[in-house]
Amino acid sequence: MTSDEIREKYLKFFEGKGHARITPAPLVLESDPTTLFTSAGMQPLVPYLKGEPHPKGRRLVDSQPSFRTVDIDEVGDNRHLTYFEMLGNWGLGDYFKKEQLEWCLEFFTKELGFSKDKLWVSVFEGLPAQAGTKEVPKDTESAERWKQLGIPLERIHFYGVDKNWWSRSGPPDKMPPGEIGGPDSEIFFDFGTPHDPKYGEKCHPNCECGRFIEIGNSVFIQYEKKEDGNLVELPQKNVDYGGGLERITAAVSGTPDIFLSDLFESTIRKVEEESKGSYGNNSEKDRSFRIIADHLRASSAVMSEGIEPSNKLQGYVVRRLIRRAVFHLSLLGVKDLSASISRISKALWPKISGAMVQESERFEKALSKGTAILTRRLETSGVIDGKFAFDLYQSGGFPLELSLEILKEKGKEFSEKEIRTFEKEFESHRQKSRTASVGMFKGGLADSSKEVTKLHTVTHLLHAALRKVLGEHVSQKGSNITAERLRFDFSHSQKLTEEETKKVEDLVNEQIKKDLKVEFEEKTLDEAVKEGALHFFGERYGDRVKVYTIKDPSAGPGPPFSREVCGGPHVSHTGELGRVRILKQEKLGSGVVRIYASTS
Ligand code: SER
Repeated sequence: MTSDEIREKYLKFFEGKGHARITPAPLVLESDPTTLFTSAGMQPLVPYLKGEPHPKGRRLVDSQPSFRTVDIDEVGDNRHLTYFEMLGNWGLGDYFKKEQLEWCLEFFTKELGFSKDKLWVSVFEGLPAQAGTKEVPKDTESAERWKQLGIPLERIHFYGVDKNWWSRSGPPDKMPPGEIGGPDSEIFFDFGTPHDPKYGEKCHPNCECGRFIEIGNSVFIQYEKKEDGNLVELPQKNVDYGGGLERITAAVSGTPDIFLSDLFESTIRKVEEESKGSYGNNSEKDRSFRIIADHLRASSAVMSEGIEPSNKLQGYVVRRLIRRAVFHLSLLGVKDLSASISRISKALWPKISGAMVQESERFEKALSKGTAILTRRLETSGVIDGKFAFDLYQSGGFPLELSLEILKEKGKEFSEKEIRTFEKEFESHRQKSRTASVGMFKGGLADSSKEVTKLHTVTHLLHAALRKVLGEHVSQKGSNITAERLRFDFSHSQKLTEEETKKVEDLVNEQIKKDLKVEFEEKTLDEAVKEGALHFFGERYGDRVKVYTIKDPSAGPGPPFSREVCGGPHVSHTGELGRVRILKQEKLGSGVVRIYASTS
């Protein structure tokens, strides 16, 4: 069975159980500036898990491309990826544990033909009451259900919040206010490979030895974290199931290595050709093959959504992925790195090949410069210390592995102590950058979501006002919102004059003073466009879109002040917004102007 067949079987199976198929969200969400990537199928569905009705009903199914930056350092084993496809089904205040566990098992055993003996499950062991938080009970209901369904007790394992609790930010104490989550029950495929005692005395489903691979997670999303730290029950009980297509495909083939599946076949083959080596020999080189295959596939997926390698946000992640892939290509003995990347990317991802090659050329330069610096240093002082190697890494992206290799070639060794110095510097740097990106994923969302929501609505008002003052040629070219300010790019040939700026600000502030209702309706994109709703990036919208309207009821018939297709969220009345001021403008060249604005 190919991965395409498995995906289709899954979608059909749940359609058969009354689920509506929904279009997946893009990896880079335009309307969610608080996160870098869609990292789980539930992410675009949060409002519906919290109780807003979904236009397609209470049972949904999809396959959502997902990206997890936090897993970059895990890639290299038999089962971790940064970019993967997550099969998902949702019960939004509809069915719950009883049906979900039954269907999950039915899908794996009947549709994919897994023998029940190969399936193990995990269940939440409960969380005792803590200061300010009530107890979350042990999930005996799921355990009972698994037993009824024929999974024997010895294959049902209980774990705590680290393994069997799911929210975007992790266990309950890590969840910011407003975040939703709940206990979960995972299902594992047993490949039957021998246990490696290096990973502990006894093997169990969550053991790291590689015998078990998690193929699905049924999350029972029923809690929301409140400002006071308490978990409270949501108005509805939800099911959020997610299973990695790559891992399920590996289980179907009975081979505990996702890189041997058809999803990676062409990439691995290309890398074999380039390196004149072969994958799957359990040698050190396998790790490099996997890193290259994951990183190139992941960066091509992000780049195909219009992201270029850069020093910022998603662009930076792409840069890191490409550079790391190129470096591992060099570890496989490839000499002409960019030419090699060019051949691989032209064959597999022709549309983004140019940008990928450019980035590898930049990295190749950094590599040869770094090599020269290192060699010179060695010749003059005879030693390289950890601090020097770290600086080289930090300033030129020159990896430690490469420093070590060059030293080895020159018959020198880096002492354990020096490696530790490098690692200490590296860790403290990584902590800093982790904190920054974690803030982006989590804290950012909680602390700033209210401000961001407000500025979202201001953006609509501003867009409408700009069109009224400057003309209908004004259309959105980009938008970015942080808790402090909004940024809006639009088509116009020159910066606004002082008078125009004042007119735009006044027009926006008038609408705010009138405390107009912000309303939305769901419809198809066609209907929305027909009624004159402004829209952006047409191809990225789902089947049904939300149209937000801001209208002054006393202004009589005629078009509303603003009408735009948008995912939201927005404030409910313009009166919630402060006074808007345009802070600064820039001309971005070729007919695009950028303005920054904030509210006071
Ligand atoms: N939200 C859960 C996960 O990402 C299941 O879909 O694993």
